[in-house]
Amino acid sequence: MSTQQEQQAQQDQRIEENLKHIKHRIVIFSGKGGVGKSTVAVNLAYAMKNRNHKVGLMDADITGPNIPQMTGLTGSPKIHEDGKRFYPQEKNGVSIVSMASLMPPDTALIWRGPLRSTVITQFLGDVLWGELDHLLADLPPGTGDEVLTAAQRMKPQTAVVVTTPQDVSLADCRRAVTMAKKLEIPRIAVVENMSGLICPHCDKSIDIFDSGGGEKLALETGATFLGRIPMEIETRIGGDIGQPAVLHRPESATARAFEEIATQLASLIKS
Ligand SMILES: Nc1ncnc2c1ncn2[C@@H]1O[C@H](COP(=O)(O)OP(=O)(O)OP(=O)(O)O)[C@@H](O)[C@H]1O
Ligand SMILES: [Mg+2]
Repeated sequence: MSTQQEQQAQQDQRIEENLKHIKHRIVIFSGKGGVGKSTVAVNLAYAMKNRNHKVGLMDADITGPNIPQMTGLTGSPKIHEDGKRFYPQEKNGVSIVSMASLMPPDTALIWRGPLRSTVITQFLGDVLWGELDHLLADLPPGTGDEVLTAAQRMKPQTAVVVTTPQDVSLADCRRAVTMAKKLEIPRIAVVENMSGLICPHCDKSIDIFDSGGGEKLALETGATFLGRIPMEIETRIGGDIGQPAVLHRPESATARAFEEIATQLASLIKS
């Protein structure tokens, strides 16, 4: 066996070992950018943590990592004494790993797909995740290399496809559902985000992007519809300043929607 093959085999073993201790793996993705994958990943992670589950959150968006900013995570991870592996960081009880914590601020990583996939493989094998009930992976937009790597190496039992309600997003997300099916992810769920803007003046909902498309997509594709999340200005602000709605505005319409979606997700996982 060549040295490279040996290293590959060792890494496969480390991933295998890690996955044995992570009961449930969930990939959050969508065919389209900017629909709220990271927002959904962060708030779902905290909604599950609120149910006393041990939760890990892997920022698998290597070139556009947003999880530290959205959770308020600062600093960098602690390295294991072997000098090779490292521990996830912890923020409000959730274990987090992100490329943003491993490089200087404002650095642009101009990496091709295979290199980005290598980082995902390292996040799975070289991070000491420990015992987890759920590991959520926030994936980059589209159906490219890293999405494929995460979906294959992480062996997720559930895919959560995030869409906004309008037709252009639905078309892309239909492709994401098709990809999840091809990858044989056993459970596929759809979340509709930005489902109506809640007017801060009159509290009425304005259907900027239409409404109901996510449920239609789920029906058409046989996926499970988990629910809708409205658009709220404070949710965007919370994302910018590291204060997730579920933790910092638990009474808000956004947080209540996430709690309901977490309940639906929990029953899907048990099914
Ligand atoms: N329900 C919501 N209400 C208000 N703002 C939202 C909502 N969902 C997401 N946003 C905001 O929209 C922007 C895009 O969201 P986010 O970064 O979660 O999307 P994404 O799909 O992860 O994007 P990318 O494809 O770039 O990774 C962010 O500024 C976020 O705070
Ligand atoms: Mg994102």
